Amino acid sequence: MSSSNTLDHKNAYPALITALCARDTYTKGHCDRVRSLARKVGQAADLSASSLDALRIAGQLHDVGKIGVRDSVLLKPGELTAEEWDEMKSHSAIGERIIRATFLPNAAEVASIVRHHHESFDGNGYPDGLAGEQIPQSCRILLIVDAYGAMTTGRPYHKPRSHDETMSILAREAGSKLDPDMFSLFSGIIERTPTDIS
Ligand SMILES: [Fe+2]
Repeated sequence: MSSSNTLDHKNAYPALITALCARDTYTKGHCDRVRSLARKVGQAADLSASSLDALRIAGQLHDVGKIGVRDSVLLKPGELTAEEWDEMKSHSAIGERIIRATFLPNAAEVASIVRHHHESFDGNGYPDGLAGEQIPQSCRILLIVDAYGAMTTGRPYHKPRSHDETMSILAREAGSKLDPDMFSLFSGIIERTPTDIS
């Protein structure tokens, strides 16, 4: 590779982090916490070193597609209309395209995790309606960690929930929206390190 490094993959990651930070500081802080906890759950799930690395990067950049969502939708304090919700949901496919356009060495795997990070275990997620083990394991982990982080942090449309309330909501979703095995791993880790993502 050229030593000029203008297209060096190492340039892509910090540039995207900076872009996310400029877009929405909540998103940057949220993604830092998701990355840290996703890595711990991935280790407990015995993911390979390369998959752990992809999960770590996707944990931080999973919402990079929100760059393409209008403020009036992303920051709307009230409920979204059906049309606005469609725009919000487009962030996972936009994020996939952004990651694929980078020179990250594992761009294809990271992009796939970003595309599918809102797929639901019961098949009711988006964008492709994958179910069960059709969904990459890293995405099943990321969905749980992302939901925990979102619920325990304040947003324009809700106040932060307590750890206990968040865990009881997530426990009810284990087996439907959430992979029960990955939730069990997550639960063991978060109960040992409850301040990790607060
Ligand atoms: Fe997302």
